Amino acid sequence: MSAPTLRTDRLTKKFGAFTAVDGVTLTVPPGSRHALIGPNGAGKTTLINLLTGVIASTGGSIHLDDDDITRMPADRRVHRGLVRTFQINTLFPRLTPHEATALAIAERDGVGRVFWRSFRGNTAIHDEADDLLTRFGLGAHARTVTSQLAYGRQRLLEIVLALAARPSILLLDEPAAGIPEDESGEVFEAIAALPESMTVLFIEHDMDLVFRFARRISVLVAGAVIADGTPDEIANHADVRRAYLGSTEVGHPPGLPKEAAGSVTRAADAGGAATGAVHA
Ligand SMILES: Nc1ncnc2c1ncn2[C@@H]1O[C@H](COP(=O)(O)OP(=O)(O)O)[C@@H](O)[C@H]1O
Ligand SMILES: [Mg+2]
Repeated sequence: MSAPTLRTDRLTKKFGAFTAVDGVTLTVPPGSRHALIGPNGAGKTTLINLLTGVIASTGGSIHLDDDDITRMPADRRVHRGLVRTFQINTLFPRLTPHEATALAIAERDGVGRVFWRSFRGNTAIHDEADDLLTRFGLGAHARTVTSQLAYGRQRLLEIVLALAARPSILLLDEPAAGIPEDESGEVFEAIAALPESMTVLFIEHDMDLVFRFARRISVLVAGAVIADGTPDEIANHADVRRAYLGSTEVGHPPGLPKEAAGSVTRAADAGGAATGAVHA
């Protein structure tokens, strides 16, 4: 089954007088690998929260294919296949990955309460949980209490728990955050191996990972999309380069990956080959 097209039209979120998301119009077709990038505080997480229904928008709309879901409650969006990762650190620290995954599957199938009464009874659920965990390299850790897992494995489990809901559109907010740099690639390899039919919209600040795994990139600055295109187009976009060079936040170092930064420099040296260079 193919995912619906996720679309926003001038989506806006104001917190009082402050506009965190400012008229964002996006189209995310089925099977996208779409990265949302931008400086710290640009509104990326707020945008994901609007999409999942965790917070209500103050303007604009959100659509799945032809259905307006702008005011649809969060749990119904999950049933429509729009799923974001859980925060296991707060939800499931005392469960094992196997228990947590089995529970998430039981919830999806609407048998949560029955399931807990006969935890061992439902072999189909246990098998599906083990399959999912094995696919994400967590097979050997499935029966270890989650709080004792290495941080990278906990982040993988967050993705597994989201997948247990059988999403058609998976939303990931910095899935490799806090993972040692040499292990963060593994998380994205696992994401890259997801079915082609599944849409993945992800926030990531590591530009090497973004340019390795995204097929489309939207750049958010001060709540607004300033550029939207293929990795090549984004790497050569003068506004993007300017936005990143102008960014000075600590903790989210700006900077395009080396090869991308190189091509940006060459485009600029070539006399404004990148579109928008003189007009912005
Ligand atoms: N609940 C809230 N109330 C007020 N301001 C908020 C709230 N949530 C986020 N913001 C503000 O909105 C801006 C965007 O935040 P966020 O979406 O978390 O940015 P990003 O994920 O791109 O780093 C920030 O200035 C943040 O302080
Ligand atoms: Mg954020």
